[in-house]
Amino acid sequence: MPVLQVDGGDLFGRRNKNERHQSEFLCKICGTFGIDAIGLGEQDLNFGLAFLEQMIEEHGLPFTNANVKSLGTGALILPEYLVVERGGITFGIVSVMDPAQKIITMASGGEEFEVLEPVAVLREVVPRMRDKVDTVILLGHLGDALTDQVIKEVQGIDISVTGHTYRNITTERVLDDTIMLSSAYEGRYIGKADLFIDETNGKIMAVSTKVTGLDDTIPDDPEILAKVEEYKVSLTEFKEARRSAYPRIYGSKEEDFIGDRSCKSCHEDVWQAYAKSGHMQAYNSLRVQGQHFEPDCLVCHTTGFQYENGYADDAPYNRLINVQCEACHGYGTQHARDGKWAAQAKDSCVICHDQENSPEFDYASYWDRIKH
Ligand code: HEC
Ligand code: HEC
Ligand code: HEC
Ligand code: HEC
Repeated sequence: MPVLQVDGGDLFGRRNKNERHQSEFLCKICGTFGIDAIGLGEQDLNFGLAFLEQMIEEHGLPFTNANVKSLGTGALILPEYLVVERGGITFGIVSVMDPAQKIITMASGGEEFEVLEPVAVLREVVPRMRDKVDTVILLGHLGDALTDQVIKEVQGIDISVTGHTYRNITTERVLDDTIMLSSAYEGRYIGKADLFIDETNGKIMAVSTKVTGLDDTIPDDPEILAKVEEYKVSLTEFKEARRSAYPRIYGSKEEDFIGDRSCKSCHEDVWQAYAKSGHMQAYNSLRVQGQHFEPDCLVCHTTGFQYENGYADDAPYNRLINVQCEACHGYGTQHARDGKWAAQAKDSCVICHDQENSPEFDYASYWDRIKH
C-alpha cells in the first residue's frame, strides 16, 4: 500500500550545544526514514537558518513553510509547499507556524524573521495549490486551538496534521470536511490515517485513523538501536570534551562546599538578604533559556564550578546551583572568624562580573544592591 509520511515540525532540540549535537544525529536518522514533508516549527530555527539549511542539504530533509520570511532578504526561507505523488494521487503539502511563537536563534549575527498571518497566507496559497494537486494537506505548526480556527476560516484543506501540540487525537475527527490529525511529541506516538480514495475522481471517500504509542511492546529496530547506542557514546564524549574545557583545577579535595542552607541556620539575616538577590536566581536564568547544561554558562551561574567538590550536573554537587554564599566566601569548611574571611570575598566579584558579562560593574554600587 502506498504510504505518505509527514512530520509536524519541532524536530530540533533546545538552544544549547549538547542539544544541537543531538539534533544533528536526529536529522541524520530522519533522513533515512523516507519522510515526504516536514513542517517548520519555531524550534527548528533554534540553531539558526544556516544550520537548518545545512541539515536539509546533508540529510535531504523535506522541510517546507509558507509563512516565515527572512527579514534580511524578504523572501520565504523554505519552499512554499511541496507536491508529492503517491499511489496515483498528487498531494500538495503546505505548512505554516504560529506567529505568537517566538523564534530565538542561538546563531551569532542575530538573524530575524517575519512570521506572516497563517489565515491570510493559506487563503492565498491553497487555491493555487488546488489547481495543481488532488489533495491538500496542511501541516499546521499551530497547536490545537489555532489549527481549528484556521481550518474553519480557510477552504480547500483536505487533511490537517496539527503540530506544536501535546494532544494525541486517537479518534477520527472531521471539522468542516477536513480530516484532523495531530502529531504528538518526542516520537512517542505514531499516527496513521488510512484514506480510501475514489479512483474515478481522486476524492477521499472515507478515512480511518489510529494512534499507536511507541512503547516497550513495540520492539526496537536493531539497526536504529545500534546507531542510537553508538551515538550515546559519542554524545558522552562530546559532553566530556566540553566539560574538560573547564577542568577542576582549583581548591582541594579535603575542603567542601556545605551549601547555602547550612549557612542559613546561623546567619538568618544575611540569608534573607541573599534570598532576595539575583544571585539566588542565577541558575534559573539559565534554565529559562535552556542553557543550564552549558559549561560556558554554568561557570559563573553556579558555585565552585572549577573547584574540587564544586558544582557538577550530578548529585550531590548539583545542589550547588546559583551564586551561593560560598561562591564569594569560599569553602565553608574554611569558615574563619578573624575578619579576613569576610574581607577576601570582596575580590571575588570580578571573576564573574567581567567586562563581557557585566560591563556596568562597579564594586560600590553593586555591593550596595546585595549588601549584608
Ligand atoms: C560566581 C560568580 C559571581 C560572583 C563571584 C559574583 N557574582 Fe554577582 N552575579 C553573578 C550572576 C551570574 C548574576 C546574574 C544573576 C541572575 O541570573 O539574575 C549576578 C548578579 C549580580 C547583581 C545584580 C542582581 C541583584 O541582585 O541586584 C549584583 C548587584 C551583583 N551580582 C553583585 C555582586 C558583587 C558585589 C559581587 C562580589 C562581592 C558579586 N556579585 C560576585 C555572578 C557572580
Ligand atoms: C564570566 C561569567 C559569566 C558567564 C560565563 C556567563 N554569565 Fe550570565 N551573567 C553574569 C553576570 C555577572 C551577570 C549579571 C550582570 C549584571 O547585572 O551586571 C549575568 C547575567 C545574566 C543574565 C541576566 C539575568 C537577569 O535576568 O538579569 C542572563 C540571562 C545570563 N547571564 C545568561 C547567561 C548565559 C546563557 C550564559 C552562557 C552562554 C552566561 N550567562 C554566561 C556572568 C556570567
Ligand atoms: C556575591 C558575593 C557574596 C555572597 C553570595 C555572599 N556574601 Fe557574604 N559577604 C560578601 C562580601 C564582599 C562581604 C564583606 C563586605 C565588607 O567587608 O565590606 C561579606 C560579608 C559577610 C559577612 C560578614 C558581615 C559582617 O558584618 O562583617 C557574613 C557573616 C556573610 N557575608 C555571610 C554570608 C552568607 C551566610 C551568605 C549566604 C547566605 C553570603 N554571605 C553570601 C560577599 C558575599
Ligand atoms: C554553626 C553556626 C555557623 C554556621 C553554620 C556558619 N557560620 Fe558564619 N559565623 C558564625 C559565627 C558565630 C560568626 C562570628 C560572628 C559573626 O560575625 O556573626 C561567623 C562569621 C562569619 C563570617 C565573618 C567571618 C570573618 O571573620 O571574616 C562570614 C563571612 C561567615 N560567617 C560566613 C558563613 C558562610 C558563608 C556560611 C555557610 C557556608 C557560614 N558562615 C556558616 C557562625 C556560623
